[in-house]
Amino acid sequence: MSENEKTEKLFKLREEAKKGGGDERIAAQHKKGKLTARERIDILTDRGSFQEMDAFVTHRSSAFGLEKQQILGDGVVTGFARIEGRPVYLFSQDFTVFGGSLSETHAEKICKIMDLALKNGVPVIGLNDSGGARIQEGVDSLGGYAEVFWRNSMASGVVPQISAVMGPCAGGAVYSPALTDFIYMVKGTSYMFVTGPNVVKTVTHEDVTSEDLGGADAHGIKSGVAHFTTENDADCLQHIRKLITYIPQNCEERVPAQPSKEPAPSKAAALDALVPLNPNKPYDIKDAIEGVMDEGSFYEVHRQYADNIVVGFARLAGRTLGIVANQPWSLAGVLDINASIKGARFVRFCDAFNIPILVFEDVPGFLPGTDQEWGGIIKHGAKLLYAFCEATVPKMTVITRKAYGGAYDVMNSKHIRADYNIAWPTAEIAVMGTKGAVEIIFRKEIAAADDPEQKQKELEERYNEVFANPYKAAARGFIDDVILPSETREKLIRAFENCENKAERVPRRKHDNLPL
Ligand code: HXC
Repeated sequence: MSENEKTEKLFKLREEAKKGGGDERIAAQHKKGKLTARERIDILTDRGSFQEMDAFVTHRSSAFGLEKQQILGDGVVTGFARIEGRPVYLFSQDFTVFGGSLSETHAEKICKIMDLALKNGVPVIGLNDSGGARIQEGVDSLGGYAEVFWRNSMASGVVPQISAVMGPCAGGAVYSPALTDFIYMVKGTSYMFVTGPNVVKTVTHEDVTSEDLGGADAHGIKSGVAHFTTENDADCLQHIRKLITYIPQNCEERVPAQPSKEPAPSKAAALDALVPLNPNKPYDIKDAIEGVMDEGSFYEVHRQYADNIVVGFARLAGRTLGIVANQPWSLAGVLDINASIKGARFVRFCDAFNIPILVFEDVPGFLPGTDQEWGGIIKHGAKLLYAFCEATVPKMTVITRKAYGGAYDVMNSKHIRADYNIAWPTAEIAVMGTKGAVEIIFRKEIAAADDPEQKQKELEERYNEVFANPYKAAARGFIDDVILPSETREKLIRAFENCENKAERVPRRKHDNLPL
């Protein structure tokens, strides 16, 4: 073969690899409103930065005539690239090749980039669009999945792992995304379930569509499996680009700082009058976040799930913080099972990846009732408590209003080693709210009074004087200061600067035993 012919062969093979399952299947993919594996990579990565690996890999199976269907790349495009200038490893499943199904070699390609990501301390991004295990390969493909799961587990807490589900994701295939840090889904074209509608119908006699069972809204709103739901493929990929700017490369590094931005003047100016004097009146805690943090920097995680707690990333003077905030606007900001799990998972991600934590607290307590007790609020609430206790990153709390009961302890109190806790003058720090407390401790006095209503009012006023303010806690040193809301940003900037070099150690152990 001449040199020219050799070059031509290389070019021909490259072209062939790019075609995947062919024009017809690419057209079918587009018709569904989905982009191809390579089009997705183009949007996700910085222009021209993607370097493919293993484009010439083919499967080794000969069952059911598979040896006659050798497609270069074997249904997954893998390699490395940059996003906002930061190195990443990635894989993008190609639904046009055997429905993106995972063969032994397809799995080997994914494992190769995962190993490199771990060795080099670089995030891994998986774009999933697959019919699951390649049926013709049987146990070889199941073994391939397990190899991926094992690597997901080993990489957990070492490098960030991000999954986008951009098509079907069925059977055991859902467990690789589930082992990663963040899951994105696309409305209308992606779904995740352990068993599909047909099996559901056979086993439970339920009639349910794929969308209702495991679509983006099912997992973004009901199950909380998806952290982000997005409008279409391009929107999903742009979201991932954004997320990368808030997280570090690995557990040894910090997030690169960005230029500081003052909060929007209207938001900052509204802070002092944000909290209503009536403790039963709600307000939006996101107004507090936006009034304190850099303008436009709040990137909410799990926006539609358990919205009685708000979590997400935001920047303070250019540095990424993890925000955890009770939301008085929803269920009065009470902590329930879902909110506890949501908060705990986020706190643990931040702590694993050196992202300092800031809590905005306005919490009336844990939600009472049989639903919650039988659902295990004790063990799930303990997750949030545990997550705050074990976090060794700089962690601070702003009490905006209620800090009642066990929830006061749980929400990053000084007692569980928070570094700097401050309260606004509207704060109320007590075992419980005024009305409930008075009815319990003064029941006999109220019943014996000539005018029980008047007596209750007087006692409530007395209780308020003692507890419905931040000064009792300040007198004990359980909060470090009482400040005006408008002073919050400056105080926090300095406090976080002072904790830059925080180095706290936990006792030596094999691993912890987080209440699951
Ligand atoms: C091999 C597959 C495949 C699979 C799809 N294809 N899934 N090939 N193994 N798992 C092929 C089809 O034969 C077809 O090939 C092409 O991909 C597109 O599939 P269609 O069915 O035409 O597409 P669509 O109508 O969009 O339906 C997509 C689908 C459906 C919903 C994903 O294909 C499907 O239900 N597939 C099987 C899903 C499944 O049960 N997988 C196993 C899960 S168990 P041609 O040549 O016609 O284009 C599992 C175990 C993992 O994954 C265990 C880990 C612990």
